[in-house]
Order: sequence, then structure tokens, then C-alpha cells
Amino acid sequence: MSARREVLAPERAPAAADDGNDTDAGSEVTASDATANTDGGERAGDPVLARPVEPAVNPADLADEVRLRPRRLAEFLGQPQLTDHLDIVLEAARRRQQPVDHLLFAGPPGLGKTSLAGIVAAEMGVGLRVTSGPALARPGDLAALITDLQAGDVLFIDEVHRLPRAVEEVLYPAMEDFQLDILIGKGPTARSIRLDLPRFTLVGATTRTGLLTGPLRDRFGFLGRLDLYAPEDLTGIVLRSARILGIEIEPVAAALIAARARGTPRIANRLLRRVRDFVEVRAEGSITAALATHGMELFGVDELGLDKIDRAILDALCRRFDGRAVGLVTLAQCVGEEPDTVEDAYEPYLLQQGLLQRTPRGRVATPRAFTHLGMEGSAAVPGHEEPAATLW
Ligand SMILES: Nc1ncnc2c1ncn2[C@@H]1O[C@H](COP(=O)(O)OP(=O)(O)OP(=O)(O)O)[C@@H](O)[C@H]1O
Ligand SMILES: [Mg+2]
Repeated sequence: MSARREVLAPERAPAAADDGNDTDAGSEVTASDATANTDGGERAGDPVLARPVEPAVNPADLADEVRLRPRRLAEFLGQPQLTDHLDIVLEAARRRQQPVDHLLFAGPPGLGKTSLAGIVAAEMGVGLRVTSGPALARPGDLAALITDLQAGDVLFIDEVHRLPRAVEEVLYPAMEDFQLDILIGKGPTARSIRLDLPRFTLVGATTRTGLLTGPLRDRFGFLGRLDLYAPEDLTGIVLRSARILGIEIEPVAAALIAARARGTPRIANRLLRRVRDFVEVRAEGSITAALATHGMELFGVDELGLDKIDRAILDALCRRFDGRAVGLVTLAQCVGEEPDTVEDAYEPYLLQQGLLQRTPRGRVATPRAFTHLGMEGSAAVPGHEEPAATLW
């Protein structure tokens, strides 16, 4: 399918290529695969995928996602420090006529890690092979892919923190010395042979750098961290996507969509498409500021990018519990979600926006949450807050 091939340099046949969400090296993308890299565990058929502001890729959006993916560094908007640095790394490798160092891209879902892997291959004019940590179940899976690479090729391993340990150990000498130790046969007759590999570039992507083992992390020559995008960069991304999709949009409307996109290009693109649908059905002509606002209100996305459940969580904390600390399970019951879903899908953004705090006694709304709901704040009891990193 096109979504699986488009990221590849066209002249090379893919062994396993898609958006990086395979569960086995040759499989098609499925709904559960597509959520796997959010790392909230596999969330097959999860209703949160229907959220307009869900950062994980929705299988229904895959084709558009591939179409909208930037192909060259110049098309990749935002993340100026990272792209400057990467530009230098690529140019230096080109001048030395050597493959690029192994690269690791880290950051939350939907910020452009997979896009960057494709860009590295395109900028270097080399082939790209795409797989993912969970797809490489056995060392043999990796060996099959890696021995088929040509000099300079990019091997992209998405969710590299999910590589099985046995596979990771085979990867070390491959990355460091371009050698592969493989075991042939079984039992007493088994013997290990060493294969020389072409010099390739490993590009890893992870949503969870903390889960990467030290030895693996140390073998990457470059770590690119992707941060949430600044609103003006997201506005540029909305305008670019609109151009590609043939959508007429006023720049102010693009800025309004960007402001509600939670710093995430994937969400910005999704909101754009939803607003486009709304305008097609309910109005005509280009997307104006008023239509964009109306559309997003209709989908329940407010000016901070919060959706209905986000607001229900804040409402429970502020109104029902009047600013008192609430346990995760109780909070989840109040909004009709599983505790894991609240913790993985909803809380990170609320925490990041300073709307919610985790305390030793439970979740607490901040004064900003009260203000956002148009209430006079009572908020957290002072002296009980702890930094989020040390809490449960
Ligand atoms: N800098 C950017 N400029 C333009 N579009 C972007 C940029 N970054 C991401 N996008 C858009 O966002 C979509 C998602 O990006 P991508 O798939 O590369 O994210 P990701 O970090 O790999 O996400 P995941 O962690 O879920 O795999 C792309 O299809 C592309 O349209
Ligand atoms: Mg990706």
C-alpha cells in the first residue's frame, strides 16, 4: 500500500516499509499497530483514537499523513536547532563521502521523527529500510534486514526502545564495527560466524528515551530531541498542508488551528482536515477565522486544544471535588475512562499545560484550570505539591 512505500527512496524495493508501526517485519499496518508507538501499551480499537486531538496516528489518516510528510530538510518546518544541527551532520558526511553517523530522534508522537528518517535518506541520496523495535522479534529478523543493506543505506528502527534484548545485542557490533555475529545451527553443532556489513546508518526513533538502554544510546553519534512546536511554526505547517491538499485557508484561520493543535503537527493536520470537512458541508469558499473557530468548537476542541474528556477531568477536579486531591481511579470513574487511559492519553498534556498536578494525595487542579473553566480558583492546598517526575 502506498503508505508503506512512500517513505522509501523509490529505487529500492522495501523489505518492510510503513509508517514504522509494524508488529512483524512484513506485516500490514493495523489499528493496534498504529497506536503502538504511543507507548501506553497496545491500545487496539481504542476509542481515544477518535479524538481530534489524539497525538498517535489514526489508521484512517495514514494516507494523508504520508502525503503531507516533508521530504527534504527545507520542507521540515520548525525545530530550528535540530534541523540546523542535522544539516551540518549531513553536509559533513556528504563532503567526506561517508555514511552519516547513527542518529537517534526522540520526542512525543506526531512531531516528525519518522519524517526525519525519510529526510536523512533523501538528503543523502540513499535507500531507506523501515522497521520497528517490536517487529524485530528475533536476531534473525534483524540479520535478514541488515545483510540486505547497501553501502550508505539508512535503516530506520521506529520505537527502538522496544527492541528485544537479544536483538539489541546483535545490533551493538553491527553499529560499531559493521559486523554481524550470527549463530548457525542448534545445540552442540551450532557455530557462530561473523559477517562484514556495508557501512550503513541506523536511524532510531523513540517516544521514550528513558527506556533506552545506556549501551544502545551511547552508540548513536547524534541525538535529536523534538520539542512541541511553537505556534508560528505550526501555522506554517497548516498552511503548507493546506497547499498540498488544495484547501483554501486564510492565514488567521491557520493560526487559530495551530493554536489548538497542542504543539503537534499531526494534530494540526487532523484539525485542518476536520475543519475542511466542516466548511465543505456547512459553508463554502475558503476557511475563514470564524469558520475555523466554529468548526473546532463543534468538534469540542477549545482554545487550549482541550477536548471533551480533558475538560471533564478538569471539571471533576474543580467543580465536583472543589480543588481537593482525587485518586486516579476515582477520577477515571468520574469521566468514564480507564485509569490507564486517563494517565497515558489525557494527563500528559494537562500536566504540561500546568492545568493539573500530581501530588502524593492524588490529582489536583491548578489555579489555571479554574480560570480556564471560568471559575474562581480554590485549587491545590499549598505545601503538598511534588515535582511530577517523582510521583506516581
Ligand atoms: N516539521 C514538520 N513540518 C511539516 N510537517 C510535519 C513536520 N513534522 C511532522 N509533520 C507532519 O506530521 C505528521 C506526523 O509526523 P511523523 O509521522 O514524522 O511523526 P512521528 O514523530 O514519527 O510520530 P510517531 O511517534 O507517532 O511515530 C507527518 O505526516 C507530517 O505531515
Ligand atoms: Mg513515527
